[in-house]
Amino acid sequence: MPFQAPRGTFDILPDEEEIWNKVQQACFETARLFGYRYIETPVFEESGLFQRTVGENTDIVEKEMYSFDDKGGENISLRPENTAGVCRAFIENGLHNTTLPSRLFYYGPMFRYERPQSGRYRQFHQFGIECIGEASPDVDYEVIKIAWDVLKILDFSNVVLNVNSLGDSQDRYLYSEELKKYYSKYLNDLPRVDQLRFERSPLRILDSKEDITIKISEDAPKTLDFISTESSIHHENLILHLDQLSSIDKEFQYKINHRLVRGLDYYNKTVFEYTSDSLGPQGVLLGGGRYDPLIKILGGQDTPAVGFAMGIERAVNELKKNIDIEKNYVDAVLIVTNDDLRIQSTQIANNLRNHKIRTIIAPRKSIKAQMRFANNINSKCAVFIGHDELEANKLSIKLLQEKSEQIDIDLNDISQFKKILSS
Ligand code: HAM
Repeated sequence: MPFQAPRGTFDILPDEEEIWNKVQQACFETARLFGYRYIETPVFEESGLFQRTVGENTDIVEKEMYSFDDKGGENISLRPENTAGVCRAFIENGLHNTTLPSRLFYYGPMFRYERPQSGRYRQFHQFGIECIGEASPDVDYEVIKIAWDVLKILDFSNVVLNVNSLGDSQDRYLYSEELKKYYSKYLNDLPRVDQLRFERSPLRILDSKEDITIKISEDAPKTLDFISTESSIHHENLILHLDQLSSIDKEFQYKINHRLVRGLDYYNKTVFEYTSDSLGPQGVLLGGGRYDPLIKILGGQDTPAVGFAMGIERAVNELKKNIDIEKNYVDAVLIVTNDDLRIQSTQIANNLRNHKIRTIIAPRKSIKAQMRFANNINSKCAVFIGHDELEANKLSIKLLQEKSEQIDIDLNDISQFKKILSS
């Protein structure tokens, strides 16, 4: 084959549209129910935006960005995530002058040059929520609940919320030092990739997917033992909300995961992920947390914020297992029995479409071949157009998915046709 989709990308084919729409609709409707409004930012930004926010030492910025110099010599990156872009837009468009918090949601493609494997793509889609301008744990709970409601609408089972708190930047520094002390005892046992993390970002060792490291990390110090009183109270308040949700919704499960640190630098206090066993080792459906320092880092006013993003492909792949794809996308195929009626047929087709009847005219072939075409595309019915029918101002309809006689209807009374289609 001369050309193929680039590695780690894929085409969304017509049969899949319904599932993609279902996921998108669940996300948009839930976000709107919580008073969130849509925001769209460009798919590329200045590379510096991601270096400053996601972090120079993260896998995303170090290895996974699609970056290039544009023709004007500016270094540009395809967005690997959208929290940075939304915060840039928040500052640039003066949204801090509106009533806060700004409740925003987005949906669109992201790009990461990752090693393609199950559930990981180089172009993938995220639905994201950002609540900017409110410091209270009540909104941490709000975004966690939005995510939960989306997962419930999509019928996910065995989903668990993992939560942790990273404290503030001072707590994080103390904790990193403590982690270094701990891992220094095992430095020679750690795989190379984690030895490299040791110097530059010890927190990331906790996130390692290497079996030896996972074992060693079991007894590592816990962030919750190092966070400030203020961060502890914040965390405890969030837990009160989560306990209340567990008590009223038996399906909701959460656990405090001491190894959860997330792979982006901008987080403080609450971090969380929803995981599902059925997704296998890459079982993270969505992840997020609080990122209070970020807007200030970007030159805006000190503005606390919290949010999450969900990988749409992961949700779509999961849904595909359970949904029968609707094959019926055409109501009527016009079978034109004489070629000299082709012009009139286009008018009839347009008239049907004006009445919201999905209509295709069969190709110029024998009547038998036209009927085969109508059956092959699963049309609900075939509509015969011949001289006799037109002279009598009639359409002759045959339902294809059940054995039926031909039914004649008045060409001027399409409502009769609609009744037959919905019966
Ligand atoms: P993230 O954990 O990097 O967070 O990505 C969020 C979700 O995007 C993941 O849980 C996963 O479902 C999906 N995802 C990430 N990479 C891939 C990939 N290569 N292929 C398929 N799906 C992927 C963020 O992006 C943060 N901006 C989330 C956030 C919003 N935090 C606060 N607000």
